[in-house]
Order: sequence, then structure tokens, then C-alpha cells
Amino acid sequence: MSEELLTTYQLAPSILSADFSRLGEEIKTVMDAGVRVIHVDVMDGHYVPNITIGPVVVAGIARQVREAGGILDVHLMIENPERYVEAFAKAGADWICVHVEASTHLNMTLSQIRAAGCKAGVSLNPATPLVALQEVGGDIDFALMMTVNPGFSGQEFISSVVPKIERARKLLPPEVGLEVDGGVDADTIETVLDTGANLFVAGSAVFGAADPAAAAGELMNAMAARTG
Ligand code: DX5
Ligand code: ZN
Repeated sequence: MSEELLTTYQLAPSILSADFSRLGEEIKTVMDAGVRVIHVDVMDGHYVPNITIGPVVVAGIARQVREAGGILDVHLMIENPERYVEAFAKAGADWICVHVEASTHLNMTLSQIRAAGCKAGVSLNPATPLVALQEVGGDIDFALMMTVNPGFSGQEFISSVVPKIERARKLLPPEVGLEVDGGVDADTIETVLDTGANLFVAGSAVFGAADPAAAAGELMNAMAARTG
């Protein structure tokens, strides 16, 4: 399941934009609409200014997501991510992504993620050169390209990252998933679909909409239009 989701077109709504007083309901709404990847934004107040979700919340939603046939895509925007890999894996993370800018011993951290039974991802900020991925292409299951500076949902899509995403698709082996995160909505998804990316994070465009199921449906329709 986790494997197949990595290389097919998937929408990954970020719960950062959800109503946390009704988190289970919000997740149910999008999963009923067909979503299979739930994106979890973990921030520590050091690597990025914001503080968000920890392993306790991941553990709280893991069973619901798994029983509905989905997976948890955990995006660590934290310093020293190697210290927390085990805790997030135990809490129920399926995919764990670390930032290359925050990982001193990246190769070791990626091995640690796989050893914990999770799929390993590496994220690059908008200004981080793609060459940072060159030596780890064989050690990752997916790469995540930030199209905003990490820290908050609801920011504007940085279109100058688009050529880097296209180059990433060419650099990475076909079995490695390519995820785009930040400012993806009904307009910008057309641009990112052209890059060859297959995993699309959307926070405010889904959970900030009046009807999150309809908003997710619209984005998934745009994706489905490319598979035909
Ligand atoms: C930003 C996070 C994103 C964010 C996406 O630091 O990594 O996942 O929640 O939110 P939108 O889609 O609103 O840009
Ligand atoms: Zn994210």
C-alpha cells in the first residue's frame, strides 16, 4: 500500500490547516472523498519559527488513517531529526521526510528511517540546490520540494522552484516519489503537474475551503485528468 502510493498521483492534505477541535472528522471527510495520504507537518520552533504537531497527535490519528486504507506522511521540519525518527515511527508514521538543511548526517538518518520500517524522504527548501540530492538518490523513497519557505500554511507558491522540480524528476530513479509542498491549489496544481511530480501536499486549499471534500475532489480531478 505505502509503496504503491509513493509512485502514483496522490493528494496529501496537510492537517496543519485542519480544525484541530474536529481532527478525526476532518480526516474522515477527505478520506471519504478518496484521499489516501495524510500529510503531517511537524515543526519545532527552532528549524522553523512555528511549533506544531508531535508524536502524540500522530499516534492519535494513526489507527483511523490506517483502517481507512491510508498512510501518514510525516514531514519533519525540526533540528536534529534523527533524535525523533524512532518516536514518530512508533507513533505510526509510514513515511518520514527530513530536511537536508537540518540533517548533519543525512545518510545515517535515512538508514535509521528505513530501519524503523518507514519510507524515507528528503526535503529541500526553495533556495537549496538540487545537487544536495545527488548522493542520496539511492537511499530515498521520495523527495519533497518545498514551494514555500517552511513554517506556515497559506503562503504563496514560489514559481521559481518549478524548473528545479523538473530537474529532480530527471535526476531521481522512477521508483522514487516526487512530492511538492506549499501553495498548491486549484490554479497552481496545473503547473506542478507539468513538472513530473506525483505527490501534492495541500493545506489551506483543502482544509481552508468551505467544503474540504469538494476542494480535495477538485484537486484529485485535476490529477486524474493527467493519467488518461
Ligand atoms: C509548510 C508546510 C506545508 C503547509 C502547506 O511549512 O510544510 O505542508 O502546511 O500548506 P499550504 O498548502 O496552505 O501552503
Ligand atoms: Zn509539509
